[in-house]
Amino acid sequence: MPFRSRSAIRVKNAEAVERMRVSNRIVAMVLDTMKSEVRPGISTLELDRIAEEIIRSAGATPSFKNYHGYPASICASVDEEIVHGIPKAETVLKEGSIISIDVGAYIGGYHGDGARTFAVGEISEEAQDLIRRTEESFFAGMAYAKAGCYLYQISAAIEKHAKHYGLGIVKEYVGHGIGTEMHEEPPIPNYKPFGRGPRLEAGMTLAVEPMITRGSAAIRILDDGWTAVTRDGSLSAHYENTILITSDGYEVLTRL
Ligand code: MF3
Ligand code: CO
Repeated sequence: MPFRSRSAIRVKNAEAVERMRVSNRIVAMVLDTMKSEVRPGISTLELDRIAEEIIRSAGATPSFKNYHGYPASICASVDEEIVHGIPKAETVLKEGSIISIDVGAYIGGYHGDGARTFAVGEISEEAQDLIRRTEESFFAGMAYAKAGCYLYQISAAIEKHAKHYGLGIVKEYVGHGIGTEMHEEPPIPNYKPFGRGPRLEAGMTLAVEPMITRGSAAIRILDDGWTAVTRDGSLSAHYENTILITSDGYEVLTRL
């Protein structure tokens, strides 16, 4: 979501947390299936169909479909595409590419949201390194995902990890609180803004989603009005989990 602010961060009660587990488990199932379906020769539209089928068979609806007019159930962003790539029959995956797949599911009044970046067949060392460092930056942030820490400690740790490896951090898109709305307060930047941000409390559910590039982090939006790409054409990776803040840490809800 774009960076904007600011009202209260919703704390989920036990029942809301249970519902968040359900919607996020469906997201995890889709991501797991995507991992085995991604291969040279498959189109991103075919991946979208498979994802939508899993979501609907579970009794959920795809959170992204029709969201501000978005036409699909997943975002499928290949190579220099950062986020919000629209699935297409013509976009056929090629050996050596990387693809970020982002998916949302809505059921029982609550949303789940998560993303992974996968290798298509054999990929370069550089591409592997980008995927690995992007995931690591998420987990670097998780050192501060607990009640009593401050939100921008997570942001700062993600930034520090990516910068340490000389990677670019996309600023135009950020993570977000999530629950009855896909995008709730607070925005969660992947770099440290001024101040320390809100204090984390048990029961907050957050979608933390670093978007990291191999070159400059400057972006451009394609004529479709959605797809964000790196201006310099460098590779980009995305890793997102919805997490629950607990009294002594966090739980990843988008994991089986
Ligand atoms: N994870 C993305 C986000 O939080 C998903 C939104 S895609 C959209 O912005 F198509 F629904 F916009
Ligand atoms: Co998100």
